[in-house]
Amino acid sequence: MTISRRTVIATGLAAGAGALSLPLLGGCEKRSSGIKVGVMLPFTGTYAQLGEQILAGFRLAVAEAGGQVGGREISTIIVDDESDPGKAPENANRLINAQGADLLLGSVHSGVLAGMVKVVRESGTILVCPNAGAASATGAMCAPNIFRASFSNWQPAFPMGKVAFDRGCRTAVTMAWNYGAGEESVGAFEESFAAAGGSLLKRIMVPFPNVEFQAHLTEIAALKPDCVFVFFAGAGALKFVKDWAAAGLKGRVRLLSTGFITEGVLKDQGADAEGILTTLHYADALQTPENLRFRAAFREAAKREADVYSVQGYDAGQLMLKGLAAVNGDASQRPAMIAAMEKAEIVSPRGRFTLSAAHNPVQDIYLREVQGGKEVVLGVAHAALSDPARGCRMA
Ligand code: PHB
Repeated sequence: MTISRRTVIATGLAAGAGALSLPLLGGCEKRSSGIKVGVMLPFTGTYAQLGEQILAGFRLAVAEAGGQVGGREISTIIVDDESDPGKAPENANRLINAQGADLLLGSVHSGVLAGMVKVVRESGTILVCPNAGAASATGAMCAPNIFRASFSNWQPAFPMGKVAFDRGCRTAVTMAWNYGAGEESVGAFEESFAAAGGSLLKRIMVPFPNVEFQAHLTEIAALKPDCVFVFFAGAGALKFVKDWAAAGLKGRVRLLSTGFITEGVLKDQGADAEGILTTLHYADALQTPENLRFRAAFREAAKREADVYSVQGYDAGQLMLKGLAAVNGDASQRPAMIAAMEKAEIVSPRGRFTLSAAHNPVQDIYLREVQGGKEVVLGVAHAALSDPARGCRMA
């Protein structure tokens, strides 16, 4: 009995109104002894594609483990969180208290993650984040039961300030969606750009998930900066790159970003993305055996290409599985699970990584450039970069 997530959406049960428990693989659900993973991801709105990629990556990791640990089948309870921070605490509470989730996986949007963090700090439920970079999750709000398999917003953006300066950029404008991820991403760029000696002309913030960029692009053309660093992702990133080229800025002002500007949307951006320079903890083109194998397996399972989001979903699955393996699938043994997860070395398509004391990946940040419609890896912008984890006091 395999029910696809599309079925869940089609019945309206995942659209924030409720949730359904599904086995990840064939076979019947064992209600008493199974492992239930509560999944909060966006399946509608600007981040919908990111949610799909994360879930497919997570499913692949679970499938490769045989869909079970210690004979206990892993099932998912899936909620479309709509990237709506206001609904996050209620959704998380419902998954834990009404639906009986043993573990939580989520989310994409930093504000949604913040809501989940609040809930699991109370309940003690183990949470693994497969994307959202909110600093607080592994900073001021860090906790033994909160883990991230992705990045902090600071991490992929920080190396770009120095890269920009080293490549001759002296004046910059930053632009992002006006919420946690945007602020923290441009803030990290501004931090390293200023430290290198660059000057910031202006920071432009756009309400999330607004994609009316035109007036801001006109302003940027008038400011004439050497470079512009932005944070946009998903459908918004596709629109931004198209508008940037249409405004005549392509080739006149250097466009810099974290890799989220092209991940999953590069093909649709086409020639407009040519030359964009980015920093990220992953690149499709990494020629490691792990990445080549993962990309082939993902293509086979999901019938589409992998991106950073699928890698993060896969690694969130790997991290959970390490914890579950240590307790032979008994998710009630939280301290033993946490101890195993803290010690885990994840053999990721991005490269091997371990977790910091604050439970955030310590990882290489690659420098990438779009050349000939492909993301080319120019090198490592910062090796083994650890988030500063400002304000984290582990209980
Ligand atoms: C976030 O909200 O933390 C976020 C969303 C999308 C990304 C990266 C970060 O691609």
